[in-house]
Amino acid sequence: MTTMESLIGLVNRIQRACTVLGDYGGADGNSFSSLWEALPTVAVVGGQSSGKSSVLESIVGRDFLPRGSGIVTRRPLVLQLHKMESGAQEYAEFLHMPRRKFTDFALVRQEIQDETDRVTGKSKQISPIPIHLSIYSSNVVNLTLIDLPGLTKVAVEGQPENIVQEIEAMVRSYVEKPNSIILAISPANQDIATSDAIKLAREVDPTGERTFGVLTKLDLMDKGTNALDVLEGRSYRLQHPWVGIVNRSQADINKNIDMIIARRKEREYFATSPDYGHLANKMGSEYLAKLLSQHLESVIRARIPSITSLINRSIEELESEMDHLGRPIAVDAGAQLYTILELCRAFERIFKEHLDGGRGDRIY
Ligand code: GDP
Ligand code: NA
Ligand code: MG
Repeated sequence: MTTMESLIGLVNRIQRACTVLGDYGGADGNSFSSLWEALPTVAVVGGQSSGKSSVLESIVGRDFLPRGSGIVTRRPLVLQLHKMESGAQEYAEFLHMPRRKFTDFALVRQEIQDETDRVTGKSKQISPIPIHLSIYSSNVVNLTLIDLPGLTKVAVEGQPENIVQEIEAMVRSYVEKPNSIILAISPANQDIATSDAIKLAREVDPTGERTFGVLTKLDLMDKGTNALDVLEGRSYRLQHPWVGIVNRSQADINKNIDMIIARRKEREYFATSPDYGHLANKMGSEYLAKLLSQHLESVIRARIPSITSLINRSIEELESEMDHLGRPIAVDAGAQLYTILELCRAFERIFKEHLDGGRGDRIY
């Protein structure tokens, strides 16, 4: 792994540990919450059925999200991807079930559903309390992604009237933070001018510097039309290039076409497309994952000085908190403090080694 990969991996783990600590009520306003705010995350935003879940699954290369019509995602899902060495056994782990390793991703899907219902009841209510899921795999890049409920214009029967506003407020609370990178998903078979994702992104990020535009469903456009005006930045200009995507169709999903085959079909689609052939190497979900990971690297690189000073402050706070608590500490919070302390020290060490001439890093 390159130094940068190790740093991003550590940032992931620090975020996770900060979250656990947050659950114990100690994180507000201290340097852990500042640390979390300093670390970038990617929020997935879009209208209902725009293809958010499909894009996430393609990035992960796994089929693991609940699906269906209506509001399926009813709590934010904080998804942390941790890159492992090749050959390692792939597994998933929920923060609320720390001792259980999931190797069957159908069970991951079931647990997301169950855990959603545990908090929202079986009603169609939504809740801002996130579910935290980590996936460890050699097929992923180091990334933290947040899946959010789809933006919608009307409540359907059985849903509270104000659900439309509630969803928007929840999504907004994620994307308005300056550390958030917005993955704005729009379907190609709808007019981009009406895209919920772009509307919100434009409001919270008017210069487009933290928005990545993703255009799904290219295969579903009317014959004789194409999305080049969007993909080439003429319809709505962003600082980052637009990425076109072809996810699995509902028919593919019903036929259980697996993600690896789907990725291959997507590559073939672009490679052989008369409209998009010239863009083929900048399209598709694998390219999107790399683009996001590279962007995260550059954001983290730019923030290394402030992250390092926050980490130093955190280390001091942790040490005094440890002294204050004394040992042995019965509660898990104590163990989490140790974990963060260790991770912060590792971050500092790797960063220093890196300054002393770390090798194999193409960014620096
Ligand atoms: P979400 O509600 O935004 O999470 O959307 P989903 O990812 O669940 O997708 C909604 C539906 O659109 C599913 O039936 C998908 O199979 C289908 N879909 C999503 N992206 C594409 C695409 O690029 N092409 C095709 N043909 N279908 C897609
Ligand atoms: Na859906
Ligand atoms: Mg979804």
